[in-house]
Amino acid sequence: MNIIVKLRRQTSRDSQPSYQTFEIEADPDRTTVLDVLIRIQSEQDGSIGFRRNCRNAICGSCAMRINGRSGLACQKHVSEVMGDRDEELVIEPMQNLPVIKDLIVDMTKFWNNLQKVDPYVSTASRQISKTEFLQTPAQRAKLQAAANCILCGSCYSECNAAAVSDRFVGPHALAKAYRVMADNRDDRTEARTEQYNQAGFVWDCTRCYNCNEVCPVEVQPLDRISQIKHEILDNHDLPESTAQRHRHTMVELVKEDGWIDESKFGVRVVGDNFRDIQGLLSIFPLGIRMVLSGKMPYPWQFQKSEGATEVKALIEAIASAKDKAN
Ligand code: FES
Repeated sequence: MNIIVKLRRQTSRDSQPSYQTFEIEADPDRTTVLDVLIRIQSEQDGSIGFRRNCRNAICGSCAMRINGRSGLACQKHVSEVMGDRDEELVIEPMQNLPVIKDLIVDMTKFWNNLQKVDPYVSTASRQISKTEFLQTPAQRAKLQAAANCILCGSCYSECNAAAVSDRFVGPHALAKAYRVMADNRDDRTEARTEQYNQAGFVWDCTRCYNCNEVCPVEVQPLDRISQIKHEILDNHDLPESTAQRHRHTMVELVKEDGWIDESKFGVRVVGDNFRDIQGLLSIFPLGIRMVLSGKMPYPWQFQKSEGATEVKALIEAIASAKDKAN
């Protein structure tokens, strides 16, 4: 089969990208995207730039966007990424990181963000045992999924929060954060819970699920982020952050009325029930815009859900089951 390959080229950080088309003959079921690139480089154009090393989905070097979705070029067969309607194999660099050349991106920010979560099991805890610090199979299983991460960057490339927020550390960093948090040898759980509750960590995730969709090794970063959130919400010693108040208020309001009375929501979450005047003032311009555009949810227009009693009973039953489980 003749495969048309459209490759995004860029000579340097500041240059404009363009697409170059190549054609190679290959068996799509037996040829990986990385094989395609290697053949183009050796047979047609030695100047194309891309990273690769293990060719076996282990090192994470060959992450790139393939037909609009990030993944490992050495893991994807051409037949897998070219649906029936795809006439071309479009290969582009990862998103959310600056391009150095062609498919090679500058990963500095990616590594710096990882560093922010302190991604190492605390060395202090290692001093407890003078011999090996053994884990039971159950203790090891708890961190298995997160430990699979090969730090390829596919999740970061597709992350909607990273695309718009400079402060968000990214799904790769938070998956690693959970990996150390879930490790029974680490003795910094309290400090980590407090740190990951700050802006830029778990609460900045928009839950778009893109990271879970593209992760090539089933780390499922969003699930790891959710696990950290649960640890935070279960820790009643932490001062309540706006993000936590958001969660609690949502449940409180649904429990009261069956659904959310938006006129109360902003006041309780951002205004902390009139305790945070600065917070209240910060949403004042939004309130004005809502009034002007006819979208202000006035309290006298709000009606309780007809199923409010059942909803309340359900929430209480879940809370009681959770208490029993603990
Ligand atoms: Fe190592 Fe693809 S070359 S993961």
